Amino acid sequence: MSSAPTPPTSAHPTGHTGARHPDGTGLSVYLDYNATTPVDPAVLEAMLPFWAEHFGNPSSSHHYGPPARQALHRARQQVSTLIGATHDSSVVFTGSGSESVALAIRGAVLASDRLGRGAHVITQATEHPAVLAACAYLRDLHGVRVTVLQVDSTGLVDPEGVAEALTDDTVLVSVMHANNETGTIQPVGEIARLAHARGALVHCDAAQSVGKIDGRRSPDRRWPARRGSSPRPGRPGIGADGRGWCGRSRRSGPTSSVASTGRPAARRPGRTAAGHRRGRRVGCG
Ligand SMILES: Cc1ncc(COP(=O)(O)O)c(C=O)c1O
Repeated sequence: MSSAPTPPTSAHPTGHTGARHPDGTGLSVYLDYNATTPVDPAVLEAMLPFWAEHFGNPSSSHHYGPPARQALHRARQQVSTLIGATHDSSVVFTGSGSESVALAIRGAVLASDRLGRGAHVITQATEHPAVLAACAYLRDLHGVRVTVLQVDSTGLVDPEGVAEALTDDTVLVSVMHANNETGTIQPVGEIARLAHARGALVHCDAAQSVGKIDGRRSPDRRWPARRGSSPRPGRPGIGADGRGWCGRSRRSGPTSSVASTGRPAARRPGRTAAGHRRGRRVGCG
């Protein structure tokens, strides 16, 4: 009787051997790393103490709180440096990329003095559904006018099209950095310059590019946004997690639709899980 073949494990950028494919045949290779990844061992190692030992609520004043609080503080600083945020406190950890996107888009528009007075948002057709849904929510529930720009055959948005669509009522332009399906990198720097020149805020969904493209160093690829969101599903960190950040703006307002307990700068409710944040930071590289 021949013994069963040893199933191959999935390739991993860090050399880590991934999980067995659920089809059980051992013949498939998992390539959908833009959707999610197995957890990198370094990420797992960094997180484990915060699940098992330092599991305290970072907001607690008893002695379980400080280790989690310090790890959270460190993770916030490291993420802030990674993305080139102006203030560590402007980094908001969220539960998913979709939550980051919703906080950024809804928060910016709902805080606008143009709400109810012709508020306008520009986005583009190949955005992640989280972005399109946030825009549709603003249109359907708050009467916001939404322009959805089309892309060319390579998936690119034409900045000229953005320039033509911008009006004095445009509150926000939301264009992603790297597309999750095609990998197309949008000319977000140019789009941001145009939008800012007309007084509009810019949101950039950088879920697929943070940690892959250095947004701080290259002028062409510099993060253009005063608000951004980055769930990082395509990196070997924690899939169901996210973060957003926002620059200081007089128009940055309350962002969560769920009553907040006053934690994470009161932008979203709920306890902050230090283990996830530590894993997020290690997954960022
Ligand atoms: C570009 C982009 N934006 C947003 C999201 C939503 O992230 P999440 O699934 O964490 O809500 C994803 C998820 O793959 C994505 O690729």
